[in-house]
Amino acid sequence: MRSKVTVVGAGFVGSTLGQRVAERDYADVVLMDVVPDMPQGKALDILEAGPVLGYDSLVIGTNGYDETANSDIVVVTSGIARKPGMSRDDLIRTNQGIVTQVVQEVAKHSPNAILICVTNPLDAMVQLAYKVSGFPKQRVLGMAGVLDTARFRTFIAQELNVSVRDVQAFVLGGHGDTMVPLARLSTVAGVPLPELIPAERLQQIVERTANGGAEIVNLLKQGSAYYAPSASVLQMIDSILLDKKMIMPCSVYLEGEYGINGLFVGVPAKLGAKGVEEVIQLKLTEDERAALQKSADAVRELIGVMGI
Ligand code: NAI
Ligand code: 2OP
Repeated sequence: MRSKVTVVGAGFVGSTLGQRVAERDYADVVLMDVVPDMPQGKALDILEAGPVLGYDSLVIGTNGYDETANSDIVVVTSGIARKPGMSRDDLIRTNQGIVTQVVQEVAKHSPNAILICVTNPLDAMVQLAYKVSGFPKQRVLGMAGVLDTARFRTFIAQELNVSVRDVQAFVLGGHGDTMVPLARLSTVAGVPLPELIPAERLQQIVERTANGGAEIVNLLKQGSAYYAPSASVLQMIDSILLDKKMIMPCSVYLEGEYGINGLFVGVPAKLGAKGVEEVIQLKLTEDERAALQKSADAVRELIGVMGI
């Protein structure tokens, strides 16, 4: 039997993700949104591409939750996105209300699902989804690190004129200005990055990575990135539904790992059929640990704003 993936929020990220999942041909897709007829229209359009591209995935659009029942994975992208000049944190009040309402419905209709949160501010929204759903920590996670790492890898590959496939990189921490791109543990064909790029230039690349979301927002003028974000969520879905056990940076619930307790923050995690199957603990230097702690503190501050 095919797996079932529901995407709540059929906007830029959600509909592009729905298209990407359908094209993988291993899961049926439900697109849910509050805008009347819009998810139905997008779902039908994606469905009608099946004969051309050769997939049989069923794609349904809806404004309710009945069609989402018993999903294996539910991705939450509902909420407002950034406009130029806005930080991810500016979104918090509006998106807190939306994510709370959505996750209540999701937990009721798909009690065994794995929940992947995308809505910003990411780490705070995953913490909220964890609390509202009552799901175990293995079944609640957030997408940010795969995207931030993809940006880092893109810039490194461009700098060195090599294939992105040869670039391995890590970005830890919350999805925000305090994220921690780990140059020391990043490699190109096994060679540590600091041996390949001078420190000053590397710092510029690290800063561009940390501002990667804003760079796209400023270019688009309205809305934020969605091609790379949806590709990043797809990689997480692949690893879970195909039980690939890939290790990738995700926002996961920490209980003492990296000295952080009771908080969702981005760290490397192994994703498989059970969801988050292991948190991978890297040996960090004092500076790296301090940077991760600072990022975790920023996430904790936002959670304080939400009052949860
Ligand atoms: P968008 O505005 O295109 O789509 C959001 C959709 O959510 C809209 O279609 C809206 O009608 C829908 N929605 C609002 N309230 C809803 C509700 N109660 N139930 C169901 N649907 C509802 O925005 P976009 O570009 O798709 O971004 C979505 C979110 O993802 C934003 O918060 C954005 O900041 C975040 N994001 C996070 C990334 C990450 O790395 N974690 C990357 C890219 C975006
Ligand atoms: C991004 O990093 C807006 O969080 C989103 O593109």
